[in-house]
Amino acid sequence: MLSASRRTILASTAAMAAALARSPIVAQALAAPAAGAPPQPDSPRRRLSLEADWRFHAGDIPFAPLRDHEAAYAHAKAGNATGGAAEDCDDGDWAMVTLPHDFALGQAPDPAANPDQAYRPRGIAWYRRGVLLDPAWRDGALDLVFDGIATNATVWINGTLAARHFGGYTPLVIDLLPFARFGEEPNTIAVRVDAQDSEGWWYEGAGLYRHVWIERRAPVHIVRHGLVARPHPLGQGDDAATSGDWAVPLTLDLANSGATDKAVTVAARLMAPDGTPVATAQAALALPAQGQTQAALTLTVPRPRLWSPADPALYRLETRVLADGALTDQESCALGMHTVRFDADRGMLLNGEPCRIKGVCAHQDHAGVGVAVPDSLWDYRLRRIREMGGNALRTAHHAPAPELLEAADRLGVMILAENRTLSAAPDTLDALAALVRLGRNHASVIAWSLCNEESIQASGIGVAMVTRMKALVRTLDPTRAVTAALNGAMEAEPNIADQLDVVGFNYGRGGIDAYHAAHPTRPLLSSEDTSALMTRGVAAGDAARHVIADDDTTAVPWGQTNSAAWAFIAQRPWLAGGFLWTGFDYRGEATPFGWPSTSSFFGAMDLCGFAKSGFHIRRALWSATPVIAIWPHWTFPGQEGRAVPILVASNADLVSLHLDGRELARAPVRDGVARFTPVYAPGRLLAQGWRDGRVVASATCVTAGAPVALRLVPDRPRLRAERRDAVPVTVMAVDAAGQPVPVAQHGFAVHVEGGQILGLGNGDPNLALPETPAADGRSGAMALFNGLAQAIVCADGSGPLHLVATAAGLAPARCVLRVDPGIIAALPAVPPAQPLTEWRQAPASAQRPVPGQRLGDGDMNSWAWTKPGATQPTDPAAPWVLLHLAFTPRRAVAAKGGTLRFASVVGRAEIWLDGVRVALKADPAPAPLAIPLPPGNGERLLDVLFDNRTTPGRCGLAGMVSLGP
Ligand code: GAL
Repeated sequence: MLSASRRTILASTAAMAAALARSPIVAQALAAPAAGAPPQPDSPRRRLSLEADWRFHAGDIPFAPLRDHEAAYAHAKAGNATGGAAEDCDDGDWAMVTLPHDFALGQAPDPAANPDQAYRPRGIAWYRRGVLLDPAWRDGALDLVFDGIATNATVWINGTLAARHFGGYTPLVIDLLPFARFGEEPNTIAVRVDAQDSEGWWYEGAGLYRHVWIERRAPVHIVRHGLVARPHPLGQGDDAATSGDWAVPLTLDLANSGATDKAVTVAARLMAPDGTPVATAQAALALPAQGQTQAALTLTVPRPRLWSPADPALYRLETRVLADGALTDQESCALGMHTVRFDADRGMLLNGEPCRIKGVCAHQDHAGVGVAVPDSLWDYRLRRIREMGGNALRTAHHAPAPELLEAADRLGVMILAENRTLSAAPDTLDALAALVRLGRNHASVIAWSLCNEESIQASGIGVAMVTRMKALVRTLDPTRAVTAALNGAMEAEPNIADQLDVVGFNYGRGGIDAYHAAHPTRPLLSSEDTSALMTRGVAAGDAARHVIADDDTTAVPWGQTNSAAWAFIAQRPWLAGGFLWTGFDYRGEATPFGWPSTSSFFGAMDLCGFAKSGFHIRRALWSATPVIAIWPHWTFPGQEGRAVPILVASNADLVSLHLDGRELARAPVRDGVARFTPVYAPGRLLAQGWRDGRVVASATCVTAGAPVALRLVPDRPRLRAERRDAVPVTVMAVDAAGQPVPVAQHGFAVHVEGGQILGLGNGDPNLALPETPAADGRSGAMALFNGLAQAIVCADGSGPLHLVATAAGLAPARCVLRVDPGIIAALPAVPPAQPLTEWRQAPASAQRPVPGQRLGDGDMNSWAWTKPGATQPTDPAAPWVLLHLAFTPRRAVAAKGGTLRFASVVGRAEIWLDGVRVALKADPAPAPLAIPLPPGNGERLLDVLFDNRTTPGRCGLAGMVSLGP
């Protein structure tokens, strides 16, 4: 039994070692040194994902009631958390979940719940997980990092309160070292998530909805976010970006948590977008023991390739830190070379040239997954913005996920990064600082937005808060403009608008010209506009059914259609551009309806990222090349002979519409749209866009027949075996000729082999079907909505991923995706065991004490409180030492019995269970021990009696004691 237990632990340790060896930092290690140089070892930095195998409990778990003095006394001490936070909490029958996880999405919508949270009750939940930590990590820095928890959280490590965190959009970083056990002794992480409060008026999800990491750095290390680089041209003026050389000054904040001073060398290398090294620099400095210092280096780049949405060229900055000649840490980041300046007359200048911001606002939830968005879906969503002709995203109204910024750098989407809360409270200033630290090395970030639509905008309090917030931003990033999204009260005094580098207007069309005239030196931006309403794929609206025509004719009273909103901006070159509300539908704010609608209608795309008319109109307005699209479709069975509304989105001057070769009508294009009401007859509809008497673009739309089969269209043909690399797969119905049927509304089922279904959606704001899959993650159900639905799948590494969709009356569809290995190193979860920590110790005695005694309540002091992990010297005058524990086994062990495992017992000892001696450890040398525990409910008594009469030295429980199956 003993050896079995050791095998389990060793297996876990081996799994951890294998995981460590696969660390992405290793994969990203700096390129091999020049030939002839000795091979460089990897730095000891590790970043390990904690995504799999969390135990999840929906609803709160009360802390133990404090009904006697002993309980109250114990409760007040470190390591003694109770309820879900207790080390020995019985979580054996909790659900197993993989992060990111949004527990609000699976809740059934309730008309009594907050409409802006999509009528999802959010509430409280618990997450728990065990981890083993490598003993080599005892020194240095060891952080537990939660990238985002919705909304408030309390974290306990090994039963001790480790952190409280408010706010769902910024990371929580916990210094693990003072809480951690190392080696074979497991650590318990317990998180109580309280999502009863909300920070916004949109769906915010709930739970550990972003990634969780353990990050390890050596004693001499670069501190978190300690690498800051600020590329800039060496010349002055707007054309300096393109005309000359650039400098890349960088700073590295270094720490030495070790006990000795260190001579440190820092080296930096810049790689061009094609991988060629273009600049290097290095410096030597002294880093005192327990001290910090900053290294500063400057690289020079001759005439770099500049970053822009048209060419998102990324350089790679690699840094290394060597202490006493050995590599001790390294960090790298992508860098873009660009200049961004907001000008009162010319709008935004990117690399010295006017660049219109063609942006969208977006919250962060997506169909099927809520806010637990896999990294690859950020790519997908940003690609969809690019396909719409857009070049920018405002992360309204909250800090983005790190992976979104990485994708935006790569894909050339400029980011207006927004802070959530206007306040000078320490928590909110911390959140703002976290946003700036996260984004300041990212080429995509063009400006910081401090707040959105605050009623104290025109007040001394508002000004005082913004002044502090702006000063904080300036300290962390003196290079970027600060803005805010303001609405109304623009001319009132005092006004936070006066503090901004760029004044952001939300809507407020009536006042922009007057403001520009009154403040001709202020750069202005349409931080939010549009708020048009439409239901994807619908030709005619029906308010009674909460359906709005997908024709860009309806907007909220304070907003405008897509056509009108952009026309306003296009006519004002001094406006830096605009951010339409919104790029994608989002849950909550089901304006102008409410229950049972749960999602908004504002998107140019729906919740799945499927195009609406707004998408095509924006594409027409934003694209330099000819665009033409017929919308919504030409399949109206039963409406033969009736006039039907059709729009053609185009940037031509005139559109002619033809049915089966016969011209039906011509219409001018106004602000990206030509409108028609042709009489419907099945056939082939052709739209031709004309400019200067020539056809510059054409599109066709053919009437679909009855649907005969499903079709699956994956976003890409291969994926990695990681949840974060999920693929959205479009589900559609096709007719006998293979034409998509835009009016199909079939229910369907999906089943996957070789992976998981993360979620399903169809973009219907009135969707009443659950979006989450069956409990095994392998099957799910959804319905097509106006011809389309989406399944989001990820691979599990067991082979190719096979997805099958079936629907009554239709031929099934299949798709196969190739699966590549995952690249993210993970720290495996520890098999569950109940730590036994709450020991009492009798005073050492000359007489043999009686094991198995129960202690009277109220005496906190004559027996000491102790936890395993320490030994004590023996006393020849009082050679008997008794340790006592009362414990209640977890349900599974109580029912079937289990094993008590002592990691290390030091000294000659007897083990007593429920007043009966069950083992004798005669050899005093430190050794593990395993004792069978027979089944039994209720409290059990465990005693360890050390007999030090003949074996002086030390005695005690040097390692953990736990109870497992
Ligand atoms: C704005 C607000 C957005 C959204 C929008 C709807 O005032 O900033 O969050 O509510 O209205 O039109």
